[in-house]
Amino acid sequence: MSIISKDISKAVALLTNEELVAIPTETVYGLAGNIYSEKAIKAIFETKKRPFFNPLIVHIPSVDLLNDIVDYIPEKAQLLADAFWPGPITLVLKKKTIIPDLITAGKDTVAVRVPNHATTLELLKQLPFPLAAPSANPFSSISPTTAQHVEDYFKDTIKMVLDGGPCKSGIESTIIGFENDAPIIYRLGSTSIEAIEAVVGTIEIKNTVTEGGSLSEVEMSRSQKEISPNAPGMLARHYAPKTKTILTHNVSETLKQHRQKRVGVLVFQNEIKTNTIKAQIVLSKTGDLTEAASNLYHALHQLDKAELDVIIAEQFPNYGLGKSINDRLSRATKS
Ligand code: TXA
Ligand code: MG
Repeated sequence: MSIISKDISKAVALLTNEELVAIPTETVYGLAGNIYSEKAIKAIFETKKRPFFNPLIVHIPSVDLLNDIVDYIPEKAQLLADAFWPGPITLVLKKKTIIPDLITAGKDTVAVRVPNHATTLELLKQLPFPLAAPSANPFSSISPTTAQHVEDYFKDTIKMVLDGGPCKSGIESTIIGFENDAPIIYRLGSTSIEAIEAVVGTIEIKNTVTEGGSLSEVEMSRSQKEISPNAPGMLARHYAPKTKTILTHNVSETLKQHRQKRVGVLVFQNEIKTNTIKAQIVLSKTGDLTEAASNLYHALHQLDKAELDVIIAEQFPNYGLGKSINDRLSRATKS
C-alpha cells in the first residue's frame, strides 16, 4: 500500500505522536520530526543512516518565530530573513538553550528556515512545535524532489509522505552562517549568490570541500569533520547517483572515450546528436538555469534507474544557479 497522502490532519497526528512524516518543500522533500522529541530526532538519523555529527535544519512557519529558536539575530540575518522567507535560505545562528543538542550536533548554533510551500506552511501552523527535517534520502543518495522518490527510499521505514507535488526549486536551500556578524555561504543552493548579494553586499563562500582521492564514506566523514566543522553536511560525496558519473566541459569529446559502454547524458540546453547513447536528458531547452535546477535531481534519479555504465554530465555556466548546479554535479561525480 502506498504511504503517499495529501491528508494534513493525518500528518499532524503522526508528528504529534513522535512519528516521522516526509514533507514537501520548495527545494526537496524533508524527513520531518518534532524538534523536541528525542525519539523522533533519533529516528530521523537512523532512518537516513546519517551520522549524528551532521546537524539538522529547523523549519518554522513564519519569521516571527525566529526569536523562539535563536538568541541573537545579526542585522544582515534579519535583512535576509525579511527578503527571502518563506524561501530557500537557511540561516545558521546562535541557538537558544531550549534547542536540543541532538538537532545541532552539540553546536551552539542552529540552522533554521521558513519553507515556501503552502502545504507544509499549513502543517507547521497547525503544530505547536517546529519540525527538524533533513532531505528525505538515505545518507549521501540523491535528494528527493517528488513524493514518489521518497516512497521508493522509505516505504518500509516511515508511515507517510505528505504529497505536495514536485518541488519547484529542486535543489536544497542556500545555507548562510555568520562570523562576527558577517554573512558567509556554507552551502550553495536554490537562492543564487547574486540575489543574496543584492540584499547584503559581497559575501564569502566557504563550502569548498578539499577532499581528494577515493576515501570511503566513513573516512570522508571523519576527515571532513576536521576540515570543515561549520558545514559537516558538505561531504564531498553527497547527492550521488549509484552510477559512475563524469562531469565535463565537452560532452562530445568525453563520449568518444566511452564508446563501448552504455552511456547516459545529462546536458543543460543542447541535445547531443548521436545514436551511441542509451539515454539523454536536456535540463532546459530554453537555457533557463532555474528550470534546469528544478529538473536536476529528477533527471539524476531517472538516469540512475536506466541501467547505465556511466552518466556523462555537462558542466554548467558558473554563475547564478549554474554555480549551485555545478556544486551538486561535482559532488555526484565523487566515488
Ligand atoms: O532545502 C533544504 O535545506 C532541505 C529542506 C528539506 O529544507 N533540507 C536539507 O537538509 O537540505 P540537510 O540536512 O539535508 O542539509 C542540511 C545541512 C547539512 O549540510 C548540515 O550539516 C547543515 O545543514 N547544518 C545544519 N545545522 C548546521 C549548523 N548549526 N551549522 C552548520 N551547518 C549546519
Ligand atoms: Mg541532504
